[in-house]
Amino acid sequence: MAIEEPKSGSLGGTDYFTDAGKERERGGELSLLRETAISAEVAELAIRADERMRRHMENTHAQMRQYARDLNEVIQRERSKTLSLEEMYQQLQGSAEQLQASMEREQQRARDLENAYVEMVRRLMNASAYKDRETGEHAQRLGHYARMLAMEAGRSESEANLLFTAAPMHDVGKIGIPDRILCKEGPLDPEEWAIMKTHPEIGARLLEGSKSPLIELARQVALGHHERWDGTGYPRGLRGDEIPMAARIVAIADCYDALRSRRPYKAGFSQERTCEIILRGDGRTAPEHFDPVVLEAFVRVKERMATIFETIRDPD
Ligand SMILES: [Fe+2]
Ligand SMILES: [Fe+2]
Repeated sequence: MAIEEPKSGSLGGTDYFTDAGKERERGGELSLLRETAISAEVAELAIRADERMRRHMENTHAQMRQYARDLNEVIQRERSKTLSLEEMYQQLQGSAEQLQASMEREQQRARDLENAYVEMVRRLMNASAYKDRETGEHAQRLGHYARMLAMEAGRSESEANLLFTAAPMHDVGKIGIPDRILCKEGPLDPEEWAIMKTHPEIGARLLEGSKSPLIELARQVALGHHERWDGTGYPRGLRGDEIPMAARIVAIADCYDALRSRRPYKAGFSQERTCEIILRGDGRTAPEHFDPVVLEAFVRVKERMATIFETIRDPD
């Protein structure tokens, strides 16, 4: 560092040309030199500190740049993971929609098949109704009675609804009974009765072998609707729980409607008389013929059954 020339007067004025003044002047120079040396040392220290700071700052910047690069990589990785998850989700959703569509198609096919079965059986019933004494209205009423009794006897709603469709098919086997017996005016002789009593098994054969729960229920009803709780019915003489519940329900519904209906050989009974016959017996019909649980349900719904009978009337 350059040493400044002392300015005139600044280091003693007129003393400058005396010995003492010269001595003082030298002391001042030494002091300045010392101060300058200290300043150089301080400056050196400052430079070193500055250098350390600069290196520290550079390191810090380098670390921050590395952090930024790492962070960027992490973000890119996460973003690509999110994208592939979104793709997977889209693919899964597509597969689920395809599965749903194919299930709906299968369900529709099953419904179509079921409807085709029912349609076929209805046509068979219509064919037998041409020569039968019992009418289409009787079959229709039976569906309503059976559903009502099933619900009242504690069966599930889906079972009751299935029975609503199955019950009208109970006499489909009559299509196999010769006209001379089916259309005969007046009572049948024992031989004719024996043939007539085969209609449950004919009906069951017509309906057997189906995977449809509805047609299987209709088969049970067709086969069992003339069985009796006390074992005196036909075709198999089953008793109690051996008779399917659906058939026990249709048995009482069929009996009620037959008693109330007019026939060429008899007038229809009143509601009161019909209930009396079912609940107390008349020598031909007896309460022991019926499942006690279904009979109790009948007592509770008999007035509603009368409304159905009055509403869905036979043609005059
Ligand atoms: Fe029958
Ligand atoms: Fe019937």
